[in-house]
Amino acid sequence: MKNPFKFGTLVDNQYFTDRIEELEQINRILNSPNHLILISPRRFGKSSLVKKAVTESKHPYISINMQQVTCIEDLASLLLKGVFRLHPWEKIKHLLANFRVMPTVSITPLGDNMEIGFQTASNISALLEDALSLVEKVSDEDNRIIVIFDEFQEFIEIEKDIDKKMRSIIQEQSKVNYIFLGSEESMMSDIFERKKSPFYHFGQLMRLKKIPYNDFHKYVNDRIKDVVTDNHDKLTEEILSFTSCHPYYTQQLAATIWDNAYYKKIKSEDLLTTSINQIIQSHDLDFERIWMSFNNTDKKIVRILSKEEKPYENKMLPTSTVYSSIRKMMKKGFLIKEDKYEVEDPFFRKWICERIP
Ligand SMILES: Nc1ncnc2c1ncn2[C@@H]1O[C@H](COP(=O)(O)OP(=O)(O)OP(=O)(O)O)[C@@H](O)[C@H]1O
Ligand SMILES: [Mg+2]
Repeated sequence: MKNPFKFGTLVDNQYFTDRIEELEQINRILNSPNHLILISPRRFGKSSLVKKAVTESKHPYISINMQQVTCIEDLASLLLKGVFRLHPWEKIKHLLANFRVMPTVSITPLGDNMEIGFQTASNISALLEDALSLVEKVSDEDNRIIVIFDEFQEFIEIEKDIDKKMRSIIQEQSKVNYIFLGSEESMMSDIFERKKSPFYHFGQLMRLKKIPYNDFHKYVNDRIKDVVTDNHDKLTEEILSFTSCHPYYTQQLAATIWDNAYYKKIKSEDLLTTSINQIIQSHDLDFERIWMSFNNTDKKIVRILSKEEKPYENKMLPTSTVYSSIRKMMKKGFLIKEDKYEVEDPFFRKWICERIP
């Protein structure tokens, strides 16, 4: 038997659950001339969801992780590579003749890999425009290319006014759908919801939530009952209560429990505690390092939240201090907010409760 839980990489098929409404909504957008903006904290399942929606739509697509982009030349090169993956090089190479910054293309003898570079571009706007226009040129009204920009907020940082330039180019296009993904809530909101931003209301905005309890319960329970014969319902409840239905941490804990039950034959009543402790132990150094990087206010707030108390009700901390510390820690991903503020990582939360007096 194989562990039926998967965490850390994109999930699909038997590892993917729910998101039915979200898939329908994305599908509607991809079959319209509109663009999609998808925001959620880290590891909620943005990339998996979009990959599944785009694959099911059967549209050609180009996916670019903006964390790999440090300058416009990088972006242009990744766009071109994406285009050449969709269309044979011979058929469209003539379109490169119009490029104002000439690309250098090298192909391995077997044709299985391609490198595209640009001389350091003096005309950055022209390069961006030519690369994005190439995508539009090779796209087809009836089979529109989808361009996915993952971690889009990173892109804004690479150059001043780059958002203005990009927006002015892609707003003229009519044959490409763009999907912007981002995990930095505050920056993504700033890009797409601030009135003065060039990308203000540029597409339909979706905020991805955790996976609903009932669905995740069924998913975990159906898989765990193969290896836990008694009380698997209760164990599933305890898993979800510990992880608060966070997609990644739920899969991680369930995978560890499954291994402990199947390979180590740990008794069912010990499975939860043993597995949680194992995971905490494996991250001990990391948690210690993160904890040491916090200032005193951050530490106080994270401790309060770990105990599920409310930091704004703490008389010792001025509201403005609490606010700016929470903002900073949300930006770094240590805290998230759904109905209330919470420590993002349930294992770190437990580590704090146990180690910090
Ligand atoms: N629909 C789902 N069903 C079950 N598990 C899921 C689902 N979506 C995500 N997960 C779990 O969450 C993990 C992270 O998913 P994914 O990488 O798609 O999220 P992300 O939001 O793109 O993360 P990141 O912020 O790191 O880019 C997966 O490896 C999987 O364990
Ligand atoms: Mg992702």
